[in-house]
Amino acid sequence: MRFLTKFVAAATDQAHFPAAVLPEIAFLGRSNVGKSSVINSLVGSKIARTSSTPGRTQAINFFEVRRAGEPKPQLWFSDLPGYGYARAPREVSGTWASFIEPYIKERETLALCIVLVDINVPPQDSDRQLIEFLFRCQRSFALIATKADRLSGNQRTRAIRELEAAYPEASILPFSARTGDGRDAVWRLMMDAIRAPES
Ligand code: GTP
Ligand code: MG
Repeated sequence: MRFLTKFVAAATDQAHFPAAVLPEIAFLGRSNVGKSSVINSLVGSKIARTSSTPGRTQAINFFEVRRAGEPKPQLWFSDLPGYGYARAPREVSGTWASFIEPYIKERETLALCIVLVDINVPPQDSDRQLIEFLFRCQRSFALIATKADRLSGNQRTRAIRELEAAYPEASILPFSARTGDGRDAVWRLMMDAIRAPES
């Protein structure tokens, strides 16, 4: 499947969120977990900027996604700044409270929140806090355990079990932006979410 993507806007405050017109999928997770890489892997192009330096994405970046051959775009992706990296100055000064929380709480078209965790890293308090926040806001969410290419089959199974025990309420999919593993499963999840948003 081929996808055509277009950058829509970057927003660092609520006033600059683009008008909500299509169902949206948000990508959330700690700094450097691979949010931008997952977006690029899903669409098969390098639209979102990635970096080995944590804290690269400082705005909410909105992208329009259209399946090749379709006359109109079907959905938007939003690539969010990461959390849990204390040296990112914007985070310390309250980026989350000022515009990311309102985005998650109030964005009318937000159909699914995809929470990324690193499959190599044990469950973290910051991720737990995000998931509790999503619960409180009654947002649908799914967990993606990314960088799965770094583990062997057995290690992978063990890591997924550990995450399932930590987050029993979430569906958890292994993923690798490097190999494309998990891509089809995540697309299925997203298409289901935009067909039945917040039902
Ligand atoms: P911030 O915007 O800073 O919060 O980071 P991010 O979550 O968007 O992470 P990004 O996609 O920029 O990736 C961070 C680093 O992880 C980069 O060096 C990527 O090459 C690496 N990375 C991302 N996904 C994968 C993956 O599936 N496998 C491996 N091995 N490395 C990955
Ligand atoms: Mg990023």
